[in-house]
Amino acid sequence: MRVLPRAGGFGAEITGLDLARTLSDEAVERLEDAFTRHGVLWFPDQPLSHDQLEAFTLRFGPFGWDPYVAPLADRPHILEVRRDSDETASPFGGAWHSDWSFQETPPKATILHAKVVPPSGGDTLYADGVAAYETLSPAFQAMIAPLRAVHSAAGPYGADGFYAKETGRRGMTILPSREAEKTWSHPLVRTQPRSGAKALFVNPVYTIGLEGFTKEESATLLAYLFRHMVQDRFVYRHIWSTNMLTMWDNRRLLHNATGGYDGHLRLMHRTTVAGERPE
Ligand SMILES: [Fe+2]
Repeated sequence: MRVLPRAGGFGAEITGLDLARTLSDEAVERLEDAFTRHGVLWFPDQPLSHDQLEAFTLRFGPFGWDPYVAPLADRPHILEVRRDSDETASPFGGAWHSDWSFQETPPKATILHAKVVPPSGGDTLYADGVAAYETLSPAFQAMIAPLRAVHSAAGPYGADGFYAKETGRRGMTILPSREAEKTWSHPLVRTQPRSGAKALFVNPVYTIGLEGFTKEESATLLAYLFRHMVQDRFVYRHIWSTNMLTMWDNRRLLHNATGGYDGHLRLMHRTTVAGERPE
């Protein structure tokens, strides 16, 4: 196995492994280390069946809980992230977020396997919440240390949310629900379980306020943090290729799916690995 860190930042390419075969305990341990160090790992040229994608996922922990999007008919833990060539709807996941951050135990990792990649466009952006935290002044870090942020899926998935109101045709089946209007609060600064590093753990899709703050106070402080977190210096633009598998750490990174491929099919299969309660 070779780990090739990206020049100048987080993220690493992994080669020399066949993900279609059962990973040894030693390989999993090395990958967990690389995952902790680099935040997002990509493995080019890995054709995988559904069974193999599930088996790979389960080497890193149990499946996460994936609500509001219909899974594949016979695969409750695989979502198909699909945008057809004739679709004009916004790309799924096309705003900065951390997957399912509104859950009590949001997923540790998301795994995405590229089946059909458009000739150009469809890149995924990643932003490093650890680097964003570490560049804040000690005084600002101390100020935000005790704060808790409130998360909810209502914006995208509520009964009156973005997807419920959408009128254009979408290939994916989104399932808006009143259930999505529930809220859950997490520490604004999240400690990474394995490295002890601290990351900003808020995002503009699911974070709706700060506990104890007025709406206006929350909006002002969160707007500052969102702007700070997605500056170019913290962002990596990931370019896909057919059969590439990518896994990223939702405890540390935000991500954002870009468009720019109207007229072309883009097809991915996605699983999540369950995480722990943020601390
Ligand atoms: Fe996402």
